[in-house]
Amino acid sequence: MSKQRINELTKLLQDYNYQYYVMDNSVVSDFEFDSLLKELQELEEKHPEFASALSPTKRVGGDVTKKFEQVVHKYPMLSLSNSYSKEDIIDFETRIKKLTNDEIEYVCELKYDGVAIGIQYINGEFHQAVTRGDGSKGENVSTNVKTIKSIPLKLRGDFPGDFEIRGEIFFPLKNFEKLNKLRAANDEPLYANPRNTASGTLKSLDSSIAAERGLDCFLYGIYGENIEINNHFDLVNKAEEWGFKVPRVETNYIRKTSTIEGILEFIDFWDVERKKLPFEIDGVVIKVNHYDNQNRLGFTAKSPRWAIAYKFKAERVSTILEKVTYQVGRTGAITPVANLIPVQLGGTTVKRASLHNADIIEKLDIREGDTVFVEKGGEIIPKIISVDLTKRPIDLQLFEYISHCPDCNSQLERQEGEANHYCPNDTGCAVQITGRIQHFISRKAMNIDGLGTETIEVLFEQGLIKNAADLYELTFDQLIPIERMAEKSVNNMLAGIESSKHIPFEKVLFALGIRFVGDTVAKKLARHFGTIDNIIQASFETLIEVDEIGDRIAQSLIDYFAKPENLEIVNRLKEKGLQFELAHNEDATEKLKGFVFVVSGVFDKFSRDELKKSIEDNGGKVSSSISSKTDYLVAGDKMGPAKLKKAEKLEVKIIDENKYLQLID
Ligand code: IVH
Repeated sequence: MSKQRINELTKLLQDYNYQYYVMDNSVVSDFEFDSLLKELQELEEKHPEFASALSPTKRVGGDVTKKFEQVVHKYPMLSLSNSYSKEDIIDFETRIKKLTNDEIEYVCELKYDGVAIGIQYINGEFHQAVTRGDGSKGENVSTNVKTIKSIPLKLRGDFPGDFEIRGEIFFPLKNFEKLNKLRAANDEPLYANPRNTASGTLKSLDSSIAAERGLDCFLYGIYGENIEINNHFDLVNKAEEWGFKVPRVETNYIRKTSTIEGILEFIDFWDVERKKLPFEIDGVVIKVNHYDNQNRLGFTAKSPRWAIAYKFKAERVSTILEKVTYQVGRTGAITPVANLIPVQLGGTTVKRASLHNADIIEKLDIREGDTVFVEKGGEIIPKIISVDLTKRPIDLQLFEYISHCPDCNSQLERQEGEANHYCPNDTGCAVQITGRIQHFISRKAMNIDGLGTETIEVLFEQGLIKNAADLYELTFDQLIPIERMAEKSVNNMLAGIESSKHIPFEKVLFALGIRFVGDTVAKKLARHFGTIDNIIQASFETLIEVDEIGDRIAQSLIDYFAKPENLEIVNRLKEKGLQFELAHNEDATEKLKGFVFVVSGVFDKFSRDELKKSIEDNGGKVSSSISSKTDYLVAGDKMGPAKLKKAEKLEVKIIDENKYLQLID
């Protein structure tokens, strides 16, 4: 009985995954999907003997690898020869024509900027996924790759018995930005670019990290024996039927052409349009379509003669690095910053660039006074690519990273395996203390009117505050003697502090500044546990049971509440009357449970935030962008035409605020 149900659920969920992640088609609500997944998880726990190694439950990660095993590639993983000019492409096409004396078909594809992967399937089942490595052997990163939902674990249709599919794993920009936002909120150094982060994620030993981050994959090559299809284009299309996410002609991610004009048009199109893609590409790839032609052309030592990459030019300029300064974050993380002679790059003036950490500075051998190349790819922060050694003055001093905190002079620490240095003096380092209080009062946290970041510094210098709880003990008489504090601003500030006592629990929890607890996580925790006491008492196991709470967050919560000084602050804030329990909402219903909404435009009867809150109060989910998962778009005035078009394309129901009110009435 259980065995049958496990099989049934496995099949059903595999199907839903394919529809959603490959075909962009949502057939069940999130809620229904999650309930089925939970049912399967529970059954598998009870009857591990029936659980398949390819179960959809493996997608959530959790398998931990000690060390990745080395695997020899059956087919070597070569690279492409690169070109940077259209002349090179014209030469390539002429050469091919000469060598084959044939009417040649070409396939143009995007060059995804990610990490190459080769995935082997045996009898329609995922066998193993291996990184490129040195081209002849790579690492078996199957546990991580299995968490990528667009990669099928079981195939459908008439697939070959034993084959390998190659593709590129990448970080969708939206997920990458989400990750960096979370890191910024936690005062962790930002990741520089999606490609390296995808690569790092793929090599993390704990697969829940990959599952949490949301990588994706496009496939671009199939290798095997006894494959009947004789050309690349048709085979790639066929792979979609087996369950793979492949580029489609409709989106122009792939195009077949027989002319050089067709190829050049594809290049021109993506040189402009690439900026709008939801992932990064660094060029396009042109391949000869038919396998017999590919075979006639063969390979050089490193790359096939039948393909070429055209790389887009990243904007790059050179300037002088005047000085390296350091920022201390509220968790004590040290970030080195390059201060540059201002230079124009990609329409903005660049004065600073992040240097990330000591290793990167050492690797690039960057010294103060060097002329450096700065580049802005798809990345958010401009980065230093290299040093122009021809311009280095002969007497330039070797760069030395600081050993002590620039603020409190404590000796810096660096944990094994961590890239960053930390100042350990969390209770005495002024920048860390003020940083924490500044986070506490910030807009997304306690949103205290009349109190700004500079005032926090002044209050700290005057010895009036050392932590967030001290804010609630400030008096008029203490504040009025401070320079530039007029009666009105003091009163405003005190009123702002007083009214923050009504700020809901989830924001208070976020305001505490616990590492990895960003605003979304705080919301999840508040809803799940209801009170701070429940969170304080929760064990590691209870914490990780909560949707989207992984090991790192759970451990960070445990560490935070294990410190008496943190508990003392929480207790004092509680005594002052801050909200440490979820407010009981009399109007709450479950009418919208299982439905996903997107809100856009301006409304008469609600502010946008009120409308979102109303949806959530009635059990619905609010999402920021339209996808095939969206059930309703609540459209107000001045809504962007792009959103509307997307909603229409995905056949999302579009309603106005009156219709919305009818839904919940
Ligand atoms: S085909 C024989 N197609 O670019 C090589 N590669 O330098 C066949 N890449 O390692 C590769 N997008 O990681 C191919 N549409 C695409 C690609 C692509 C990205 C990467 C791949 C490869 C590198 C080649």
